[in-house]
Amino acid sequence: MNVKWDSLGFHYTEPDYIVRAECHDGVWGEPYATEDKYLHLHVSATCLQYGQEAFEGLKAFRGVDGKIRIFRWQENAKRMQRSAEALYMAQPPTELFGEAIRLALRKNICFVPPYGTGATLYFRPLLIGTTPRLGVGPGRDFELIIIPSPIGPYYPGKFHCTTFIVNRHIDRAAPQGTGQFKVGGNYAASFRGTEAAHAMGYDCLFTDAKTHKYIDECSAANFIGIRGNEYLTPRSTAILPSITNESLTVLAKEMGMKVTRRHIPVEELATLDEAAACGTACVLSPIDKVIDPDKGVTYTISDEPGPIVTKLYNALQDIQFGRTADVHGWCEIVEC
Ligand SMILES: Cc1ncc(COP(=O)(O)O)c(C=O)c1O
Repeated sequence: MNVKWDSLGFHYTEPDYIVRAECHDGVWGEPYATEDKYLHLHVSATCLQYGQEAFEGLKAFRGVDGKIRIFRWQENAKRMQRSAEALYMAQPPTELFGEAIRLALRKNICFVPPYGTGATLYFRPLLIGTTPRLGVGPGRDFELIIIPSPIGPYYPGKFHCTTFIVNRHIDRAAPQGTGQFKVGGNYAASFRGTEAAHAMGYDCLFTDAKTHKYIDECSAANFIGIRGNEYLTPRSTAILPSITNESLTVLAKEMGMKVTRRHIPVEELATLDEAAACGTACVLSPIDKVIDPDKGVTYTISDEPGPIVTKLYNALQDIQFGRTADVHGWCEIVEC
Protein backbone atom coordinates (compact mmCIF):
# COMPACT_ATOMS: atom_id res chain seq x y z
CA MET A 1 0.00 0.00 0.00
CA ASN A 2 1.57 3.23 -1.13
CA VAL A 3 -1.02 5.97 -1.38
CA LYS A 4 0.20 9.40 -2.45
CA TRP A 5 -1.96 11.45 -0.10
CA ASP A 6 -1.18 14.74 -1.81
CA SER A 7 -2.35 13.61 -5.21
CA LEU A 8 -5.54 11.78 -4.19
CA GLY A 9 -8.49 13.08 -6.14
CA PHE A 10 -12.17 12.49 -5.53
CA HIS A 11 -12.10 9.05 -7.08
CA TYR A 12 -11.93 5.43 -6.01
CA THR A 13 -8.72 4.04 -4.56
CA GLU A 14 -8.91 0.30 -3.96
CA PRO A 15 -8.90 -0.47 -0.21
CA ASP A 16 -7.50 -3.72 1.22
CA TYR A 17 -10.88 -4.90 2.49
CA ILE A 18 -14.56 -4.34 2.00
CA VAL A 19 -17.15 -5.46 4.58
CA ARG A 20 -20.24 -7.50 3.79
CA ALA A 21 -23.31 -8.61 5.75
CA GLU A 22 -26.18 -10.67 4.38
CA CYS A 23 -29.85 -10.70 5.29
CA HIS A 24 -32.14 -13.60 4.44
CA ASP A 25 -35.83 -13.58 5.31
CA GLY A 26 -35.32 -10.70 7.72
CA VAL A 27 -32.38 -12.21 9.62
CA TRP A 28 -29.07 -10.36 9.42
CA GLY A 29 -25.75 -12.22 9.60
CA GLU A 30 -22.57 -10.84 11.16
CA PRO A 31 -20.55 -8.35 9.11
CA TYR A 32 -17.29 -9.81 7.80
CA ALA A 33 -14.30 -8.36 5.99
CA THR A 34 -13.10 -9.72 2.68
CA GLU A 35 -10.37 -8.80 0.22
CA ASP A 36 -12.56 -9.92 -2.69
CA LYS A 37 -14.13 -6.87 -4.34
CA TYR A 38 -16.34 -8.91 -6.68
CA LEU A 39 -19.80 -10.30 -5.99
CA HIS A 40 -21.13 -13.65 -7.08
CA LEU A 41 -24.57 -12.28 -7.89
CA HIS A 42 -27.45 -13.94 -9.70
CA VAL A 43 -28.16 -12.25 -13.04
CA SER A 44 -31.83 -11.92 -12.03
CA ALA A 45 -31.10 -10.28 -8.66
CA THR A 46 -33.67 -7.58 -7.88
CA CYS A 47 -30.93 -4.92 -7.64
CA LEU A 48 -29.99 -5.58 -11.26
CA GLN A 49 -33.50 -6.13 -12.62
CA TYR A 50 -35.49 -3.50 -10.76
CA GLY A 51 -32.97 -1.17 -9.17
CA GLN A 52 -33.69 -2.44 -5.65
CA GLU A 53 -30.62 -0.63 -4.32
CA ALA A 54 -29.77 2.14 -1.87
CA PHE A 55 -26.49 3.67 -0.79
CA GLU A 56 -24.88 6.15 1.59
CA GLY A 57 -21.76 8.27 1.87
CA LEU A 58 -19.85 9.28 5.01
CA LYS A 59 -16.33 10.05 6.10
CA ALA A 60 -13.70 9.31 8.76
CA PHE A 61 -11.24 12.09 9.56
CA ARG A 62 -7.77 11.90 11.11
CA GLY A 63 -7.86 14.73 13.62
CA VAL A 64 -5.25 17.24 14.69
CA ASP A 65 -4.73 15.03 17.78
CA GLY A 66 -4.09 11.95 15.61
CA LYS A 67 -7.44 10.36 16.59
CA ILE A 68 -9.85 9.04 13.97
CA ARG A 69 -13.38 10.46 13.99
CA ILE A 70 -16.37 9.09 12.07
CA PHE A 71 -18.86 11.88 11.44
CA ARG A 72 -22.55 11.26 12.28
CA TRP A 73 -22.68 7.68 10.97
CA GLN A 74 -25.88 7.09 12.94
CA GLU A 75 -27.64 9.62 10.66
CA ASN A 76 -26.46 7.71 7.59
CA ALA A 77 -27.76 4.50 9.17
CA LYS A 78 -31.17 6.11 9.72
CA ARG A 79 -31.27 7.49 6.18
CA MET A 80 -30.35 4.08 4.75
CA GLN A 81 -33.16 2.55 6.82
CA ARG A 82 -35.63 5.07 5.31
CA SER A 83 -34.35 4.32 1.80
CA ALA A 84 -34.64 0.58 2.49
CA GLU A 85 -38.20 0.94 3.73
CA ALA A 86 -39.14 2.95 0.62
CA LEU A 87 -37.80 0.22 -1.67
CA TYR A 88 -39.18 -2.73 0.31
CA MET A 89 -35.74 -3.81 1.45
CA ALA A 90 -34.59 -5.12 4.84
CA GLN A 91 -33.37 -2.24 6.99
CA PRO A 92 -29.85 -2.72 8.34
CA PRO A 93 -30.08 -2.24 12.13
CA THR A 94 -28.18 0.84 13.35
CA GLU A 95 -25.81 -1.23 15.49
CA LEU A 96 -24.98 -3.56 12.60
CA PHE A 97 -24.39 -0.57 10.31
CA GLY A 98 -22.01 0.98 12.88
CA GLU A 99 -20.22 -2.32 13.46
CA ALA A 100 -19.72 -2.75 9.71
CA ILE A 101 -18.31 0.79 9.35
CA ARG A 102 -15.92 0.31 12.31
CA LEU A 103 -14.76 -3.04 10.93
CA ALA A 104 -14.17 -1.46 7.49
CA LEU A 105 -12.16 1.28 9.21
CA ARG A 106 -10.04 -1.07 11.34
CA LYS A 107 -9.27 -3.38 8.42
CA ASN A 108 -8.17 -0.42 6.28
CA ILE A 109 -6.46 1.69 8.90
CA CYS A 110 -3.48 2.38 6.66
CA PHE A 111 -5.86 4.11 4.23
CA VAL A 112 -6.86 6.83 6.72
CA PRO A 113 -5.03 9.89 5.38
CA PRO A 114 -2.73 11.80 7.75
CA TYR A 115 -3.93 15.03 9.31
CA GLY A 116 -2.95 18.09 7.31
CA THR A 117 -3.47 16.58 3.88
CA GLY A 118 -7.17 17.50 3.89
CA ALA A 119 -7.82 13.96 2.64
CA THR A 120 -10.28 11.62 4.39
CA LEU A 121 -11.44 8.01 4.36
CA TYR A 122 -14.79 7.90 2.57
CA PHE A 123 -17.22 5.02 3.16
CA ARG A 124 -19.79 4.00 0.59
CA PRO A 125 -22.36 1.73 2.27
CA LEU A 126 -24.39 -0.09 -0.35
CA LEU A 127 -27.59 -2.10 0.14
CA ILE A 128 -28.67 -4.42 -2.66
CA GLY A 129 -31.50 -6.87 -3.30
CA THR A 130 -30.00 -10.25 -4.21
CA THR A 131 -33.07 -12.50 -4.66
CA PRO A 132 -33.37 -13.82 -8.23
CA ARG A 133 -36.76 -12.70 -9.59
CA LEU A 134 -38.30 -12.47 -12.98
CA GLY A 135 -41.75 -11.19 -11.98
CA VAL A 136 -41.71 -7.52 -11.02
CA GLY A 137 -41.59 -7.24 -7.25
CA PRO A 138 -39.23 -6.96 -4.28
CA GLY A 139 -36.94 -9.78 -3.15
CA ARG A 140 -36.32 -11.26 0.30
CA ASP A 141 -32.53 -11.38 0.33
CA PHE A 142 -30.29 -8.39 0.79
CA GLU A 143 -26.70 -7.51 1.32
CA LEU A 144 -25.05 -4.54 3.00
CA ILE A 145 -21.59 -3.79 1.64
CA ILE A 146 -19.22 -1.15 2.97
CA ILE A 147 -16.72 0.11 0.42
CA PRO A 148 -14.02 2.36 1.88
CA SER A 149 -11.81 4.59 -0.23
CA PRO A 150 -9.40 7.37 0.71
CA ILE A 151 -10.30 10.58 -1.10
CA GLY A 152 -8.43 13.80 -1.56
CA PRO A 153 -9.60 17.19 -0.34
CA TYR A 154 -12.47 18.61 -2.39
CA TYR A 155 -10.50 21.84 -2.69
CA PRO A 156 -6.87 20.81 -3.30
CA GLY A 157 -5.99 24.45 -3.94
CA LYS A 158 -7.98 27.44 -2.79
CA PHE A 159 -11.58 27.29 -1.49
CA HIS A 160 -13.30 28.43 -4.67
CA CYS A 161 -16.67 29.00 -6.35
CA THR A 162 -18.50 27.08 -9.05
CA THR A 163 -21.15 28.19 -11.53
CA PHE A 164 -24.52 26.46 -11.89
CA ILE A 165 -27.02 26.38 -14.73
CA VAL A 166 -30.77 26.13 -14.09
CA ASN A 167 -32.40 22.99 -15.47
CA ARG A 168 -36.15 22.94 -16.21
CA HIS A 169 -36.08 20.18 -18.81
CA ILE A 170 -34.82 17.07 -17.02
CA ASP A 171 -36.39 16.06 -13.71
CA ARG A 172 -34.24 14.30 -11.18
CA ALA A 173 -37.10 13.09 -8.98
CA ALA A 174 -40.88 13.52 -8.72
CA PRO A 175 -42.43 15.33 -5.74
CA GLN A 176 -43.97 12.09 -4.51
CA GLY A 177 -41.26 9.83 -5.88
CA THR A 178 -37.96 8.68 -4.42
CA GLY A 179 -36.00 11.97 -4.38
CA GLN A 180 -35.91 12.07 -0.58
CA PHE A 181 -34.26 8.65 -0.49
CA LYS A 182 -30.70 7.81 -1.47
CA VAL A 183 -31.44 5.22 -4.13
CA GLY A 184 -29.38 4.56 -7.24
CA GLY A 185 -32.27 5.20 -9.65
CA ASN A 186 -32.36 8.90 -8.73
CA TYR A 187 -28.75 9.27 -9.78
CA ALA A 188 -29.07 7.45 -13.09
CA ALA A 189 -32.12 9.66 -13.75
CA SER A 190 -30.09 12.79 -13.02
CA PHE A 191 -27.22 12.03 -15.41
CA ARG A 192 -28.96 13.59 -18.43
CA GLY A 193 -29.14 16.86 -16.51
CA THR A 194 -25.74 16.80 -14.81
CA GLU A 195 -23.78 15.61 -17.83
CA ALA A 196 -25.41 18.23 -20.10
CA ALA A 197 -24.45 20.92 -17.57
CA HIS A 198 -20.87 19.59 -17.26
CA ALA A 199 -20.52 19.58 -21.05
CA MET A 200 -21.17 23.34 -20.90
CA GLY A 201 -18.70 23.78 -18.04
CA TYR A 202 -21.30 24.17 -15.26
CA ASP A 203 -23.01 22.24 -12.49
CA CYS A 204 -26.72 21.49 -12.66
CA LEU A 205 -29.33 23.29 -10.56
CA PHE A 206 -32.44 21.10 -10.60
CA THR A 207 -35.83 22.77 -10.23
CA ASP A 208 -38.94 21.13 -8.74
CA ALA A 209 -40.46 18.63 -11.15
CA LYS A 210 -44.04 19.91 -10.77
CA THR A 211 -43.71 23.63 -11.55
CA HIS A 212 -40.02 24.13 -12.40
CA LYS A 213 -40.26 27.40 -10.48
CA TYR A 214 -38.41 26.45 -7.31
CA ILE A 215 -34.86 25.38 -6.55
CA ASP A 216 -34.62 21.67 -5.70
CA GLU A 217 -31.02 20.43 -5.60
CA CYS A 218 -27.54 21.31 -6.79
CA SER A 219 -26.46 18.20 -8.77
CA ALA A 220 -25.98 15.74 -5.84
CA ALA A 221 -25.96 18.31 -3.05
CA ASN A 222 -28.45 20.55 -1.22
CA PHE A 223 -28.73 24.27 -1.96
CA ILE A 224 -28.25 26.95 0.66
CA GLY A 225 -28.59 30.71 0.29
CA ILE A 226 -27.50 33.46 2.66
CA ARG A 227 -29.30 36.80 2.79
CA GLY A 228 -28.27 39.13 5.58
CA ASN A 229 -28.55 37.09 8.74
CA GLU A 230 -30.78 34.45 7.19
CA TYR A 231 -29.83 30.91 6.12
CA LEU A 232 -32.26 29.76 3.44
CA THR A 233 -32.62 26.23 2.16
CA PRO A 234 -35.34 24.60 0.04
CA ARG A 235 -38.25 22.69 1.48
CA SER A 236 -39.09 19.98 -1.01
CA THR A 237 -40.29 16.39 -0.86
CA ALA A 238 -37.99 15.53 -3.78
CA ILE A 239 -34.63 16.44 -2.24
CA LEU A 240 -32.34 14.30 -0.11
CA PRO A 241 -32.29 15.44 3.53
CA SER A 242 -28.58 16.27 3.69
CA ILE A 243 -26.77 15.47 6.95
CA THR A 244 -24.29 18.25 6.15
CA ASN A 245 -27.10 20.76 5.63
CA GLU A 246 -28.76 19.76 8.88
CA SER A 247 -25.42 20.11 10.72
CA LEU A 248 -24.83 23.52 9.14
CA THR A 249 -28.27 24.75 10.20
CA VAL A 250 -27.35 23.88 13.81
CA LEU A 251 -24.09 25.84 13.49
CA ALA A 252 -25.84 28.75 11.74
CA LYS A 253 -28.38 29.01 14.58
CA GLU A 254 -25.52 28.98 17.09
CA MET A 255 -23.98 31.86 15.15
CA GLY A 256 -27.25 33.75 15.71
CA MET A 257 -28.63 33.26 12.21
CA LYS A 258 -32.25 32.68 11.33
CA VAL A 259 -32.74 29.39 9.47
CA THR A 260 -35.61 29.22 6.98
CA ARG A 261 -36.71 26.13 5.06
CA ARG A 262 -39.24 26.93 2.34
CA HIS A 263 -39.83 26.89 -1.40
CA ILE A 264 -37.21 29.16 -2.98
CA PRO A 265 -38.21 30.61 -6.39
CA VAL A 266 -35.29 30.69 -8.85
CA GLU A 267 -35.67 34.51 -9.18
CA GLU A 268 -34.86 34.87 -5.49
CA LEU A 269 -31.23 34.17 -6.42
CA ALA A 270 -31.10 37.87 -7.37
CA THR A 271 -31.52 38.82 -3.70
CA LEU A 272 -28.91 36.52 -2.13
CA ASP A 273 -25.58 37.68 -0.70
CA GLU A 274 -24.06 34.19 -0.81
CA ALA A 275 -25.02 30.73 -2.01
CA ALA A 276 -23.50 27.26 -1.89
CA ALA A 277 -24.08 23.60 -2.50
CA CYS A 278 -23.57 21.37 0.54
CA GLY A 279 -22.92 17.70 1.10
CA THR A 280 -20.48 15.19 2.58
CA ALA A 281 -18.09 15.37 -0.36
CA CYS A 282 -17.54 19.13 -0.47
CA VAL A 283 -18.98 20.25 2.91
CA LEU A 284 -19.78 23.57 1.20
CA SER A 285 -19.17 24.54 -2.40
CA PRO A 286 -19.71 28.29 -2.87
CA ILE A 287 -21.65 29.42 -5.94
CA ASP A 288 -20.53 32.53 -7.81
CA LYS A 289 -23.13 32.62 -10.61
CA VAL A 290 -26.29 30.88 -11.72
CA ILE A 291 -27.18 30.97 -15.40
CA ASP A 292 -30.87 30.66 -16.31
CA PRO A 293 -30.86 30.07 -20.09
CA ASP A 294 -34.68 29.77 -20.36
CA LYS A 295 -35.12 33.28 -18.94
CA GLY A 296 -31.94 34.75 -20.43
CA VAL A 297 -30.72 35.83 -16.99
CA THR A 298 -27.45 35.32 -15.13
CA TYR A 299 -27.56 35.78 -11.37
CA THR A 300 -24.19 36.96 -10.09
CA ILE A 301 -24.01 36.13 -6.40
CA SER A 302 -20.40 36.65 -5.28
CA ASP A 303 -17.12 36.28 -7.17
CA GLU A 304 -15.30 34.89 -4.15
CA PRO A 305 -16.52 32.56 -1.37
CA GLY A 306 -18.49 34.84 0.97
CA PRO A 307 -17.73 35.38 4.68
CA ILE A 308 -20.67 33.40 6.08
CA VAL A 309 -20.23 30.37 3.81
CA THR A 310 -16.50 30.42 4.66
CA LYS A 311 -17.24 30.68 8.38
CA LEU A 312 -19.71 27.79 8.26
CA TYR A 313 -17.28 25.69 6.22
CA ASN A 314 -14.48 26.26 8.73
CA ALA A 315 -16.77 25.65 11.71
CA LEU A 316 -17.85 22.23 10.44
CA GLN A 317 -14.37 21.19 9.30
CA ASP A 318 -12.97 22.23 12.71
CA ILE A 319 -15.35 19.76 14.38
CA GLN A 320 -14.61 17.00 11.86
CA PHE A 321 -10.82 17.38 12.19
CA GLY A 322 -10.99 17.71 16.00
CA ARG A 323 -9.74 21.31 16.05
CA THR A 324 -12.67 22.40 18.18
CA ALA A 325 -14.79 20.74 20.87
CA ASP A 326 -17.45 18.40 19.49
CA VAL A 327 -20.19 19.78 21.73
CA HIS A 328 -22.96 18.14 19.67
CA GLY A 329 -21.47 14.65 19.94
CA TRP A 330 -21.33 14.34 16.14
CA CYS A 331 -18.07 12.40 15.94
CA GLU A 332 -17.34 8.90 17.15
CA ILE A 333 -13.69 8.51 18.01
CA VAL A 334 -12.63 5.02 17.04
CA GLU A 335 -9.76 3.37 18.92
CA CYS A 336 -7.70 1.44 16.41
C1 LIG B 1 -28.87 14.14 -4.08
C2 LIG B 1 -28.07 14.50 -2.91
N1 LIG B 1 -28.43 15.60 -2.20
C3 LIG B 1 -27.73 15.99 -1.11
C4 LIG B 1 -26.63 15.28 -0.67
C5 LIG B 1 -25.88 15.73 0.55
O1 LIG B 1 -26.17 14.87 1.60
P1 LIG B 1 -25.12 14.65 2.77
O2 LIG B 1 -24.85 15.99 3.35
O3 LIG B 1 -25.81 13.76 3.74
O4 LIG B 1 -23.92 14.06 2.15
C6 LIG B 1 -26.22 14.15 -1.38
C7 LIG B 1 -25.06 13.37 -0.93
O5 LIG B 1 -25.24 12.41 -0.20
C8 LIG B 1 -26.96 13.74 -2.51
O6 LIG B 1 -26.59 12.66 -3.20
